[in-house]
Amino acid sequence: MNISIILAAGEGTRMKSKYPKVLHKVCGKPLLKYVIDASREANMGKSVVVVGHGSDKVIDSIRDDDVTFVTQPIGEDVPYGTGFAVMQGKEYIADDSCVIILYGDTPLITGDTLNKLIEYHNSLDNVCTVLSADLEDPTGYGRIVRDEAGDIVSIVEHKDATSEELKIKEVNSGMYCFKGKYLKFALDKIDNDNAQGEYYITDAVQVLKNEKLKVGVYKIANQEEIYGINSRVQLQEAEKIMRNRINQSHMLNGVTLIDPENTYIEDGVVIGRDTVVYPGVVIEGNSEVGEDCCIGQNAKIVNSKIGNNVEILSSTIIDSSVDDESKIGPYAYLRPNSHIGKNVKIGDFVEVKNSTIGDNSKASHLSYIGDAEVGRNVNIGCGVVFVNYNGKIKQKSVVKDNAFVGSNSNLVAPVVVKEYGYIAAGSTITDEVGRGNLSIARARQVNKEGWVFDKGILDKNK
Ligand code: UD1
Ligand code: CA
Repeated sequence: MNISIILAAGEGTRMKSKYPKVLHKVCGKPLLKYVIDASREANMGKSVVVVGHGSDKVIDSIRDDDVTFVTQPIGEDVPYGTGFAVMQGKEYIADDSCVIILYGDTPLITGDTLNKLIEYHNSLDNVCTVLSADLEDPTGYGRIVRDEAGDIVSIVEHKDATSEELKIKEVNSGMYCFKGKYLKFALDKIDNDNAQGEYYITDAVQVLKNEKLKVGVYKIANQEEIYGINSRVQLQEAEKIMRNRINQSHMLNGVTLIDPENTYIEDGVVIGRDTVVYPGVVIEGNSEVGEDCCIGQNAKIVNSKIGNNVEILSSTIIDSSVDDESKIGPYAYLRPNSHIGKNVKIGDFVEVKNSTIGDNSKASHLSYIGDAEVGRNVNIGCGVVFVNYNGKIKQKSVVKDNAFVGSNSNLVAPVVVKEYGYIAAGSTITDEVGRGNLSIARARQVNKEGWVFDKGILDKNK
């Protein structure tokens, strides 16, 4: 089986974090997950992830059938280095397989580039192909040393390089494609005789060249794909690049983004054609937005499904769904498990939680709808409260089709309002409202004539 070995045992001290580096996120997805996804796109049957520092947390966070973890021993008396890390995955390397080596902290690498690397590697029948790029500032990277014919001679680490070698701009990305048999051969030969006393996987190049085997370099033009993340500053740079990639792909698919630099769409979100997204919008998780929608400024949509022709203005929608033609906001809050039907209006300062709202219903202003089942063509007046909590448990209310709930009413759960039930404004409803009935549940108005004058508050003759 073709596999990738993904190195992720390093500590990542410069992140200044209590969490393992590879679990930090770019556009909502952990760094390591991007690398695993790229490996999958390159048709690797398995990703073998080498973990060390914070291994428990890393293993806990990613559970996929095609991902296997191996733990690199970490400590003062054990060896260290990229070569030692790759050795941990040795048992998964089949002789006749293709193995790509990747880092868990380079999220910008694409499946497309890996496929090209493999294609190039196979077309030349190399035993090892190094992925490289030219960098304006190659400081810290291993340099690709070539001979007069342009063939790779070795990779020299920055710390081991001569002043001449330090001038080389072409760097080792740390990603490689190997023939399994020869990778294993090289792993048996590399030692830790260098400036850092580490086992370098880069030494495999020389080991294989010494055997007169074919080693090549595949150089890519887009250097950002090899960027490793070592600090929060680099994390933010990667975020910017990734955000741009995601937003570009939506625009190329027919979505209008008014200000892509201020639009935050996570990897994996689906948006239909002719939808317009305004600045400050955040769309996260497993969200899907249909066609011809208008997502107004500062809306936040998390794990939710939005139909076609929906308008959402400055509202938050979490773990919910909104069907076609509905209008949400401004300033509405749809909390988890809210299902809004077609052509519904959920207006300003309306909060909905764990409720369904049927087609053509309206709650235009200032309401709380919690644990409710609201039918079709229902009007929920301004300021209506579904009183779902009695201090101990949450209870459910049902409002059937064509009911009318007057402004400032309370529906004390559990309670049912039947079809065409009408509730007078200001009522506190605790009992069922029958079909076609009007319920008034408030104190009758009493008028005391001249009360102000009788009390001497105001002189009647003035
Ligand atoms: C390595 C390369 C260098 C290349 C650079 C690209 C070597 C010797 N050098 O250098 O040529 O230009 O990457 O970024 O390979 N890791 C482990 N276990 C270890 C050591 C490292 O899992 O024992 C992981 C780290 O978590 C990291 C990756 O391997 O993700 C690279 O390690 P790092 O120490 O950053 O390598 P460099 O010295 O930067
Ligand atoms: Ca590094």
